Amino acid sequence: MPTVLITGIGRRLGFFLAHQFLDMGYQVIGQYRSERAELTALRNKGVTLIQADFSLREQLIAFTEEISLQCKSLDVLVHNASLFVKDDPKHSCLQQAEFFDAMYAVHMLAPKLINEALHPALLKAKGSVVMMTDIYADQPHSLFRSYCASKAGLANLMKSYAGHWAPEVRVNAIEPGPMLFLDEHDKAHRERVIEQTPLAKEGGLLPIWQTIQLLITNDYLTACSIKVDGGRSMAQW
Ligand SMILES: NC(=O)c1ccc[n+]([C@@H]2O[C@H](COP(=O)([O-])OP(=O)(O)OC[C@H]3O[C@@H](n4cnc5c(N)ncnc54)[C@H](OP(=O)(O)O)[C@@H]3O)[C@@H](O)[C@H]2O)c1
Repeated sequence: MPTVLITGIGRRLGFFLAHQFLDMGYQVIGQYRSERAELTALRNKGVTLIQADFSLREQLIAFTEEISLQCKSLDVLVHNASLFVKDDPKHSCLQQAEFFDAMYAVHMLAPKLINEALHPALLKAKGSVVMMTDIYADQPHSLFRSYCASKAGLANLMKSYAGHWAPEVRVNAIEPGPMLFLDEHDKAHRERVIEQTPLAKEGGLLPIWQTIQLLITNDYLTACSIKVDGGRSMAQW
């Protein structure tokens, strides 16, 4: 049975992907930070769940140790966990440092350590890795400076690993645009984003799943980053 590990499995894209992989007959392993109702549904479907807050160094290290014990062969690894938060202009210097550390830990350090821990399992299955980055990695949003910089770091890591692990393990990225608005996004924000998007709608989760299927099945793709953004990256913001 093929195996997938998805980080940030408890909601939105991670939760949706878990069901898509289950439907394809995968054994699903997931990382979550906070307990939530969706996780009970996943446990009932046989998903193995491991709790870890990646911004806490000890929890991140413990997670990598546990996952390398549990996972001896891994077909797909999806780095999905993410902290989408604006920089706060009221933060003190120390708070800015702590905030940046958290962004770095979730978007760069965790994927790096998890990759290293799971390389033997990925090699065994000739597996493939998908990094969820963002169109903001190339063209940053000035209010999300730390988020964008750390996602750009993740995009760079993707290329390093693609080169380092070829030809056995392939490593690619998806750069979503407006995939799924957050509850806090007001009507004006939604209208502005859709106006900047040539395909003029929120993309939803299915286009990301379709792209993951392409990346994991096409064995001539590595170091490849696909924008799934309805064309929004052509806009200026
Ligand atoms: N939504 C969009 O339109 C959009 C656009 C561009 C890029 N993306 C990227 O696409 C991916 C999926 O997006 P999404 O909107 O579904 O993400 P999301 O709702 O923000 O979910 C991210 C997941 O990451 C987990 N997480 C947050 N902080 C963590 C930490 N410190 N340690 C461990 N896990 C942590 C969350 O756990 P909890 O459940 O505990 O909160 C959550 O399950 C993300 O990588 C995102 O950056 C999304």
